[in-house]
Amino acid sequence: MENPIRIDIKHRDEMTPAKHLAVLRGEEGLEWGAPEGLEWSHPTWHVLLWQATTLAAHAGLVRRSIRAGDRTLTVAGLSSVFTVPAYRGQGLAKRAVRVAMDYAAREMQATHGFLLCRAHVQALYAGLGWQALDVPVTFEQAGAPYAWPAVAMVYRYGAALWPKGQVDLRGLPW
Ligand SMILES: CC(C)(COP(=O)(O)OP(=O)(O)OC[C@H]1O[C@@H](n2cnc3c(N)ncnc32)[C@H](O)[C@@H]1OP(=O)(O)O)[C@@H](O)C(=O)NCCC(=O)NCCS
Repeated sequence: MENPIRIDIKHRDEMTPAKHLAVLRGEEGLEWGAPEGLEWSHPTWHVLLWQATTLAAHAGLVRRSIRAGDRTLTVAGLSSVFTVPAYRGQGLAKRAVRVAMDYAAREMQATHGFLLCRAHVQALYAGLGWQALDVPVTFEQAGAPYAWPAVAMVYRYGAALWPKGQVDLRGLPW
């Protein structure tokens, strides 16, 4: 019988070099499809799904204060969601996202989750209750505003509606 998936949640400061390397290896060679040459922030928390000693899937989290319309909001930023090719199609990305958002609900006092993605993975998040935004989203690149050309999605923890108006991530994207 195959080993069950083991889930580990680590702050980046408590990642061992071996765990960090596993994440980097997992990310290597993946087709992210994001515009080339952008600078991204690193996750603060890592949700790691292991099959024995192999990293099968990952989701990253940051806690950030952003502007949406005329409001400043604390969001749980979801990033670096991946499943290594051999483990795809088994629901592991969904599981990593659910675990990450549950963790953020407990630890971050955020009203919403926020992520950037490409259109063809939008369905993955929509299936978990995320909703696409239809407003301009900007963030910082080389000290200047950059307009995100793909999809931005939000997740509501409670009843609070997402404010109307354009979004500024106030720093690097994740
Ligand atoms: C996208 C990715 C994370 C999916 O991983 P996975 O573990 O195979 O996904 P799951 O098995 O949890 O599937 C979740 C849902 O997404 C859909 N899905 C999975 N991979 C997809 C893909 N490449 N394109 C479109 N939809 C996809 C599945 O149909 C599934 O929906 P369902 O539950 O209604 O059937 C994986 O292909 C990957 O790592 N890709 C490269 C990195 C990347 O693009 N990450 C997303 C960054 S925003």
